[in-house]
Amino acid sequence: MTDTAFLEDFHAVSRIGATPANGVDRQAATPADRETREWFRAFAERRGWETRVDGIGNQFALVELVPGAPYVLLGSHLDSQPLGGRFDGAYGVIAGLHAAARIADRAAASPAAGSTGPAYNVAVVNWFNEEGGRFAPSIMGSSVFAGIKREDEMLEVRDLGGTSVREALAGIGYLGTDARPEIASYAEIHIEQGRILERDGIPIGAVDRSWYTQKLDVEVLGEQSHTGATAMADRHDALLGAAKVIAKVHEVTEHFEPETLVSSVGQLTLEPNSPIVVARRVHLVADLRADDADVVLAARDRLLADIADIADAYGLRITARDFDVRDNQHYPESGLALAEAAAAELGLGARRIRTMAGHDSVAMNRIAPTVMLFIPSVDGVSHCEREYTRDEDMIDGVAMLAEVGWRLVHG
Ligand code: GLV
Ligand code: MN
Ligand code: MN
Ligand code: MN
Repeated sequence: MTDTAFLEDFHAVSRIGATPANGVDRQAATPADRETREWFRAFAERRGWETRVDGIGNQFALVELVPGAPYVLLGSHLDSQPLGGRFDGAYGVIAGLHAAARIADRAAASPAAGSTGPAYNVAVVNWFNEEGGRFAPSIMGSSVFAGIKREDEMLEVRDLGGTSVREALAGIGYLGTDARPEIASYAEIHIEQGRILERDGIPIGAVDRSWYTQKLDVEVLGEQSHTGATAMADRHDALLGAAKVIAKVHEVTEHFEPETLVSSVGQLTLEPNSPIVVARRVHLVADLRADDADVVLAARDRLLADIADIADAYGLRITARDFDVRDNQHYPESGLALAEAAAAELGLGARRIRTMAGHDSVAMNRIAPTVMLFIPSVDGVSHCEREYTRDEDMIDGVAMLAEVGWRLVHG
């Protein structure tokens, strides 16, 4: 399939759930998510590929090259953050579909005799709920596939409105029952979401390691009262306590070398949320990430001590729970060497790079030989409508994924 066909498909998917400033809003198991799934299915059906949906809403398209053989799986996710970018995830799925089509065409054009032909089939996946904005934890579908998370537990996770994953998936018609394909290896391509490739003028990143990440799920309990009539000395203000916690989550990075630890509070729920009521409860989630697990653990311990002090100082009850802990990981050397050889074959520059963002490949790397590729992000911005990657970089990435996939299907 041509580069033009790829760009047309990318722009067609970008229109699904489009937001006013060129982003998309396609949170997991919403109507916009369903629309991208219909698009994925139609693409596969046009090519005569079988599609499947498993019990956690992962969607597969299967391309048979060698009847009965396991699959080289290519993919990423079509869901997005609220007011998210149109490249994060979607690029990797659409690139996966086009790479699979190119691999199938190449296999058909060069019917190789005996042992030089493909050893494996190729499949494309749209993982359920990589983003975790609506249903936490993130990387949900691939974690279930990899056996890291239990399907029955994930189906009971609820969004802030009380809807479960099971109900939401059934609501969009994507609570499947199909068998998961047996896989031989996994490859994913994604925008970098950082500045390194753009700075160095290099089109391809071969991801060699992922950062250690964890969240702290924090509940601040105070006492609801009147914002006018309550004496200042009598207030137990949950929102004030939460504000102090949020400041500490930011400041904790100052105890480490610059940029060795990153942290934010990105989600907060407030009860009862009235201008004339001292808040009784705040729920917030802090996200801590570093290359070195010990750095995150030291920061976490420091924060737990700060949180105890804040609770004492303002007469609050604050609990903090470890949540969504992901080990730092190394991607296999064999996959890095394969990616570098593929880039050299195509005349594309490549460098090794780490990821601070979470990806489905972090889960898949636990169970299968995994290759993770990056293409440049303009200005390094992501999880926002301004996210952008140039057409020529996307096109190089599709060629790269097709070459990596071609090598993987040959064992
Ligand atoms: C999700 O997008 C993450 O980076 O963890
Ligand atoms: Mn992503
Ligand atoms: Mn993301
Ligand atoms: Mn991610």
